[in-house]
Amino acid sequence: MTAKNTDTSYGNVAKVFHWGMFLLLVGMVIVGIYMHKLPSDTPEQMQYKMGLYNDHKSFGILILILVVLRLGWRMVNAVPKMPDTMSNLENLSAHAMHVLLYVIMFAQPLFGWLMSSYGGHTVKFFGLELPALADKDKAMGGFFHEAHEVTAMLLIVAFVIHAGAALFHHYVRKDDVMERMSLRPKKSE
Ligand code: HEM
Ligand code: HEM
Repeated sequence: MTAKNTDTSYGNVAKVFHWGMFLLLVGMVIVGIYMHKLPSDTPEQMQYKMGLYNDHKSFGILILILVVLRLGWRMVNAVPKMPDTMSNLENLSAHAMHVLLYVIMFAQPLFGWLMSSYGGHTVKFFGLELPALADKDKAMGGFFHEAHEVTAMLLIVAFVIHAGAALFHHYVRKDDVMERMSLRPKKSE
C-alpha cells in the first residue's frame, strides 16, 4: 500500500482521512443530538451541557480543518477509476454523491460556527478562542440553527445511500470498490 492514490486504489492517506472522519462524524451526530436534549435546570446540569457543547464545537472545527486538508490531498492526487462494469450513470451518481458528502462536511461545521457567532456564543478550538464569524443577530442565529439541523439530517441520508452503495458493490456486484477504500492490506501485499 502506498501513501498516494493510484489509478486503481486509494492510498493510505485518503483511507485514514476517510475512516477517521467517518468515526468523528458519527460521534458528532450522536453527541449533537444527545447534548441538545440534555436538561439545563441546575448549575451542575448546565455545566455538564456546556462542557459537551465546547467539546462538540472543538471537534467540529477539527472536522472543518480536516476536510480542507482532505480535499487538498484529493486534488493533488489521482482519483481511482471506477470499474469498467459501471455505467456512465452509475459513475456520475457516485461522483455526485462524493461531491455532496464534501459539501456537507464543509457546510455542517460552518453552519455550527455561524449559529454560535450569530447567537453571541464563543467558539473555542480546544481552548483557543476563535473569532466570531458575524455580529450577534437572533434571527440569523435561529436560521443557522435550523440549517445545522437540516444538514445533519442530510448527512445521515447521504451517508446511508453512500454506505449502502458500497455494500451493494461488495456483496452484489462483487467488484473491488469496497476493497480500494479498505484499511486491510490486500492478501497479495
Ligand atoms: C461536521 C461537524 C458537525 C456535526 C456533524 C454536527 C452535528 C450536530 C447535531 C446532529 C446537532 C443536534 C441538532 C439539534 O438537534 O438541534 C448539533 C447541535 C449543535 N451543534 Fe453541531 N455539528 C457539527 C459541528 C459544529 C460546530 C463546528 C459547531 C460550533 C462551532 C457546532 C455547534 C452546535 C451547537 C451549539 C449545537 C446545539 C444546538 C442546540 O442545542 O440548540 N456544531 N450538531
Ligand atoms: C459505513 C460507512 C462508509 C462506507 C462503507 C464507505 C465506503 C466508501 C468506499 C468504498 C469509497 C470508495 C469509492 C470509490 O472507489 O470511488 C468511499 C469514498 C468516499 N467516501 Fe465513504 N464510506 C462510508 C462513510 C462515509 C462518510 C460518513 C463520508 C462523509 C460524510 C464518506 C465520504 C466519502 C467520500 C468523499 C469518498 C470519495 C473519496 C474521497 O475523496 O475520500 N464516506 N466510501
